[in-house]
Amino acid sequence: MSKTKISRRNLLKASLATMAAVSLPKLVLAMAEENVFYLTAKKSSLLFFNGAAASELWTYNGVLSGPEIRVKQGAEITVIFENQLDEATSIHWHGIRIDNKMDGVSGLTQEAVPPGEKFTYKFVAPDAGTFWYHAHNMSWSHVARGLYGALIIDEKTPLFDPDHDITIIVDDWRLDAQGRLDVDSIGGVKEWAHSGRLGNIITVNGELRPNILLNQNETYRLRVINVANSRIIAFDINQLGAEIIAYDGQTLGSPRKTNHSPLFLGPAQRVDLMLTPKSTQNIPLSNLGDAEPYNIANFVIQENSAPIKPTPRLTRNILPIPDFTQAEFHKIIIQGGAMSRMGAPIYKGKKLTIIESMESQQIWALNGIANLDDKPMFDLKQGKTIVIDFKNDTSFRHAMHIHGHHFKIISGNGVTYDEQLWKDTFLINPNSTIQIAFVADNLGKWLLHCHMLEHAAGGMNTWFRIT
Ligand code: C2O
Ligand code: CU
Repeated sequence: MSKTKISRRNLLKASLATMAAVSLPKLVLAMAEENVFYLTAKKSSLLFFNGAAASELWTYNGVLSGPEIRVKQGAEITVIFENQLDEATSIHWHGIRIDNKMDGVSGLTQEAVPPGEKFTYKFVAPDAGTFWYHAHNMSWSHVARGLYGALIIDEKTPLFDPDHDITIIVDDWRLDAQGRLDVDSIGGVKEWAHSGRLGNIITVNGELRPNILLNQNETYRLRVINVANSRIIAFDINQLGAEIIAYDGQTLGSPRKTNHSPLFLGPAQRVDLMLTPKSTQNIPLSNLGDAEPYNIANFVIQENSAPIKPTPRLTRNILPIPDFTQAEFHKIIIQGGAMSRMGAPIYKGKKLTIIESMESQQIWALNGIANLDDKPMFDLKQGKTIVIDFKNDTSFRHAMHIHGHHFKIISGNGVTYDEQLWKDTFLINPNSTIQIAFVADNLGKWLLHCHMLEHAAGGMNTWFRIT
């Protein structure tokens, strides 16, 4: 940890003394006509709180978080993207089982859009649920500076009306002593080899500790999205009085309490909660992911004596079900980082020396290979069921993500799970194994990487092909 790292307590003191305020406009409409959206990546100046020095963020349309894109399930979405930054960038639609050409991965599915140029994304979102979009070129830098937003796919008949459907985007920032985004620390190799670049302050929808107004006796859907580069957050769902209705955009059969408390939400993961405040007592949203719990938002409950209405029935997306009688098995060993047993990885077809691995910042690997090789990690036949055994041979937790597919988590550390949840990103502890399964039904080149963006850039990034 560098000496200049500022404590959260001091920042919070400064920000709360002056009342949290973010200077960017709140609402910028991105929708031009039905299902057509304009997103422009550009630099925007923002104050994290009154009295803070201005931060230069990179945003979509000048807002933080980027404009919420919301369409109905099955609709064709058009996004006309313009890059007004000085660096090339692209947009990835996280969690969408998308047409491969539109996946937005610079260097794999498209060339990054150069400064001053445009790119049109056109795709259908087959699943209703909570998704998000973010930059996918040098993501460790672009996402850290603010290039992300929510992508909400409504059910054909939405379960909740807009007033009862609330998006909660959680991000982690590192501010300097003046309360300004600490850009000098972006890209530091020491952090890449550890838990990634962690911040000292957490925003919810771009604000510090916002108040979120809810009515007593009314039921809300809260769509929580962790867009942090590397920070794992955690909530006590039971203490909130909430129930879980979806993970990573896929609704469960019925709402449920959790028996694993707190619930950890890794980078890129989403959880949808259903909450009905029963009294007028305010409900703090507290992050339990660090040594000291602290509130990141406050639900302020307004009195309402109307009776509680029955909760809507959840509808589920139809996903291809793995068929284990004809499955193909693969293994991925997650390696590297500080305190690693790995030695140096293979990078661009060549076995590096330890010094080369440090110099090129390729310090993580999947099956001994750092980052994208010319050849895919595996070639899959369309329609096959794939089972992948992940083993985390590092000293750190990781948030593994697969593009273009949702998978079932079938077992952990050798124990088969009764309830096999659909996810697009899962957390794996050090010295643990996790087994996932999915049907390789989506043609193309797909990325598989750690969503701790420094880890991905540092080598924990590979691809597979479905033909
Ligand atoms: Cu959220 Cu490779 O992406
Ligand atoms: Cu990782």
